[in-house]
Amino acid sequence: MAYSETKVVLGGLAHIPIIIGFFYLIRRQYSFGAMLRTGKNALSEKVTKATPAKAATPAKAATPAKAATPAKASAAKKPHADVPVNTYKPKAPFTGTVTENYSALRDGAIGKVQHITFDLSGGDPDFKYVEGQSCGILAAGEDAKGKPHRPRLYSIASTRYGDNFAGNTLSLCVRQLQYEKDGETINGVCSTYLCNLSPGDKVKISGPVGKEMLLPEEEDSNIIMLATGTGIAPMRAYLRRMFEPTEIEKHQWNFKGKAWLFMGAPKTANLLYDADFEHYKSKFPENLRYTKAISREQNNTKGGRMYIQDRVLEHAEEIFNMIENPKTHIYLCGLKGMEPGIDEAMATAASAKGLDWSELRPKLRKAGRWHAETY
Ligand code: FAD
Ligand code: A2P
Repeated sequence: MAYSETKVVLGGLAHIPIIIGFFYLIRRQYSFGAMLRTGKNALSEKVTKATPAKAATPAKAATPAKAATPAKASAAKKPHADVPVNTYKPKAPFTGTVTENYSALRDGAIGKVQHITFDLSGGDPDFKYVEGQSCGILAAGEDAKGKPHRPRLYSIASTRYGDNFAGNTLSLCVRQLQYEKDGETINGVCSTYLCNLSPGDKVKISGPVGKEMLLPEEEDSNIIMLATGTGIAPMRAYLRRMFEPTEIEKHQWNFKGKAWLFMGAPKTANLLYDADFEHYKSKFPENLRYTKAISREQNNTKGGRMYIQDRVLEHAEEIFNMIENPKTHIYLCGLKGMEPGIDEAMATAASAKGLDWSELRPKLRKAGRWHAETY
């Protein structure tokens, strides 16, 4: 009897793992069904919690602990931190191919200014740039000492999408430097090389360089542009980004502020990209103003040549009202010689409002709202 009692007890104990296993299977089945119904399991839940979806929860986003996460760290990055610089150095330049090279002037204009486009495809890494940057050009041939020519800088006149919107070209606006010396006409090395290029020619390009002339990211910024001659190049890129319909479609950056271009040229026929800007103005009259100073056809109030600083003085009140708005940025590009004139005009305009320009200008610069590139 004692033997059979032991058998019964042992037999009963032997069923315990079977019963536990049975309940485990039922539980598992239930969880699996739930997973199928919700489409997620415990792992995906964890992943979801760690992804930006979390940042969308206002309560979580407000907690200081979140500031330490990598997502927040990238949000706190300096503006333009991702803008590429010096992808191609002068010692190892990219080789671009000219796709077009045509005159940017109209009949009767003074000098030679060309709009030149390069194909940038095939780079490893890609040659990428943004509006307001420049590039270096290494002219073919050698200097008087038998060394390769040093690179010359040129402001990029196209947006990051290029004139064909395909994101693989770069355009420049180049004036051929020519001057007289001892009765002889001297041609600038690099500008002459560029102006004489033909489609298919290969050109060594370095860069992109510069963060001085970048546009603010805010769509409701106000942009005042002061350009002389080829100083229009970066402004053309800005204006295409703001007002060219295909550009707007591409980048979904919908400019909502006020843009005001002051352009200085010697003659009407020298006004670069004038038809495009007039077109943008007619399409966006609330957002774009375009004021011209045509030095050899118009006179200032003193009877001298009309320069953009004279136009700045004429509109001083409105310009300073705009500058009082912290969303306003001022861009200056072109002849070095225009800087003192602009400074003087701004000082006069500022004092009429009881402001001291010598104090205000460094403040604007420090705030990243005064951008100047002259040469
Ligand atoms: P070079 O052969 O280098 O000759 C220039 C030299 O000639 C001068 O240094 C000076 O010594 C001498 N010289 C010039 N004029 C005279 C004169 N009247 N009398 C006596 N000597 C003289 N240019 C553009 O066309 N478009 C642009 O978009 C553009 N963007 C620029 C952006 C930046 C940031 C900078 C710094 C410059 C930019 N330039 C631009 C100017 C460009 O870099 C070159 O300086 C210009 O094309 C002349 O180069 P070059 O090789 O033809 O002349
Ligand atoms: P100007 O040459 O009649 O004296 P471009 O590069 O096509 O020649 O255009 C440059 C424009 O800038 C011209 O109208 C030129 O006038 C003008 N300009 C020349 N010097 C200054 C200056 N110091 N301040 C402002 N504009 C100037």
